[in-house]
Amino acid sequence: MIKIGNVEIKKTACLAPMASVADRAYRLMCKKYGCAYCVSEMVSAKGICYSDKKTAELCTITDDERPMAIQLFGSEPDFMAEAVEIVLKYNPDIIDINMGCPVPKVVNIGAGSSLMKDIDLAGRITESAVKSAGNVPVTVKIRSGWSTDSINAVEIAKTIESAGASAIAVHGRTRDQFYSGYADWNVIKSVKDAVNIPVIGNGDVTDADSCVNMYNTTGCDLVMIGRGSYGNPFIFKEIECRLNNKLYIPPTVEEKMRVMLEHIRMIIELSPKSEELAVHEARKHSAWYMNGYYGSAKFRAECYQLKSYSEAEFLAERFIKLQNDRLHNNHQKNS
Ligand SMILES: Cc1cc2nc3c(=O)[nH]c(=O)nc-3n(C[C@H](O)[C@H](O)[C@H](O)COP(=O)(O)O)c2cc1C
Repeated sequence: MIKIGNVEIKKTACLAPMASVADRAYRLMCKKYGCAYCVSEMVSAKGICYSDKKTAELCTITDDERPMAIQLFGSEPDFMAEAVEIVLKYNPDIIDINMGCPVPKVVNIGAGSSLMKDIDLAGRITESAVKSAGNVPVTVKIRSGWSTDSINAVEIAKTIESAGASAIAVHGRTRDQFYSGYADWNVIKSVKDAVNIPVIGNGDVTDADSCVNMYNTTGCDLVMIGRGSYGNPFIFKEIECRLNNKLYIPPTVEEKMRVMLEHIRMIIELSPKSEELAVHEARKHSAWYMNGYYGSAKFRAECYQLKSYSEAEFLAERFIKLQNDRLHNNHQKNS
């Protein structure tokens, strides 16, 4: 177990915040397979203050998702303080501040990773969130720096710690990298060596091996996984088994398709929209569940045409048949 403020979290692996991906259905699937902690999609601090309609949808937390953080982004300490006060009504276990988002829409208002360029402001935003949050711990998610010639995660981490943050998540890429290239885990280690609050390591963990590697290389207190969980909530079970010296049995194609259908059903159930619109949102997830299998390119293309749950069921049946036929043919060839 690790502790962020007064919140206890299993020291296995947690889910990264991912806008338009890690929504409630996604988080619930990951929690079901052992995810230790999750973070909401980012929410605009200013938007909340002007009572953005999407706030309730983004900030509502169900008990099965806990422990969970609500993540805010913003560039003004006063709005951040007010936003924290508003989201406290949703009873988050933790409040996280986004200082890593690279997208122009966020960076151009001085928020997200733009704050990596203004350490003083990053400190003041953290301080005002901490004051407003009372007993609820505040964490900050940063990148390694703005660009390769301005790697300053250590400096910003120290400032954030002094401002009262209870933990820091470090994604080892610069803003300029967006999501390309590799995450630099040495930066995560340097931050871990420099601060006394827990450090969450993030970037390029895709299985139990890379998770153990991240723990060993960086000494981080918790590993955070983003894209490695696409169509793969099982990654959390795999990691939990590895860290507890238990045998992990990967899912069969039948189980994968069963879980894919469960995920789609959950998206439909939780969506206020029609089945067709909800399935539209589920398309990318279904394609991810099919990644890496024989003949999956054609099936993944079909995922992007799905309009209903029954179509997804039919596609899953055909996918299972293709995999089993291939296994059978290979078996015959070899015998
Ligand atoms: C589709 C997508 C959406 C993301 N949205 C957020 C976000 O809302 N807040 C945030 O702090 N990071 C966000 N990130 C960054 C991830 O949390 C994470 O730092 C990044 O993907 C690196 O981790 P990974 O290599 O495990 O994917 C997003 C990443 C992706 C791919």
